Amino acid sequence: MIPIKDKTGIAHMRASCGVAASVLYELKKLVWPGVTTYDLDQAARDIIARHGAKSACHGYQIGSRRYPAYSCISVNEEVVHGIGSLKRVLRDGDVVTLDVVVEYHGYIGDNAVTIPLLPVSPRVAELLRVTQEALSIGIAAATVGNRIGDISYAVQRYVEGHGFSVVRDMVGHGVGRTMHEEPQIPNFGKRGTGDRIKPGMTLAIEPMVNLGGYKTKTLADGWTTVTADGMPSAHFEHTVLTTDHGPEILTVPPIGA
Ligand code: MF3
Ligand code: CO
Repeated sequence: MIPIKDKTGIAHMRASCGVAASVLYELKKLVWPGVTTYDLDQAARDIIARHGAKSACHGYQIGSRRYPAYSCISVNEEVVHGIGSLKRVLRDGDVVTLDVVVEYHGYIGDNAVTIPLLPVSPRVAELLRVTQEALSIGIAAATVGNRIGDISYAVQRYVEGHGFSVVRDMVGHGVGRTMHEEPQIPNFGKRGTGDRIKPGMTLAIEPMVNLGGYKTKTLADGWTTVTADGMPSAHFEHTVLTTDHGPEILTVPPIGA
């Protein structure tokens, strides 16, 4: 069963997602050549704390492993779950994915962007543009009466139509009091399949798109996922509320943030 949030739950989700968006907005501004991904992760920790929130990534457990960092910072061929490192110095031509997940008053907000350090090649610029657009198209498919598979199909069709591939090993997800709730939201699939979308669902929609093939592998650190062919990857994510009057993006920074 996909959890449906009531009025109070929605108000809490609005708050946690607002914080997640503000943190991401502030973190984005620190992405420059010469900065290490460790510096960025430390900044994420400080910014999250300043908002009175907590990183939902830090200590996040899969099996016996606990995620050691405060945010996910994934560069170039890294797809997701990159761990900030003093050895990774950003430079011109890199594409940097920042994924920020916070817990605020018991609720989670989840969002991500990929930022280019210019100049990047035209094809890499297109990868970012198509991935961001795929997110918009996925969100637009999250209308009441549609099914989850309609989101998946819309994303896949748009991405593959531009000659890129969608990652299969990780998926979008429901989000609420925990980071991962039902349903899973793959970025590939068939129209008219999966659960029907009802008002009050909070969904993290997150296309992960590769310039080359869709295959990925996990590094020896147990977390960092990279493309199998070493080509760049992009990732954009919003947490979205489904309503009778259409999908509403919750991870929007307040005006003036
Ligand atoms: N946005 C990612 C997700 O939905 C964040 C994972 S945090 C980590 O899975 F702790 F798993 F790294
Ligand atoms: Co997510």
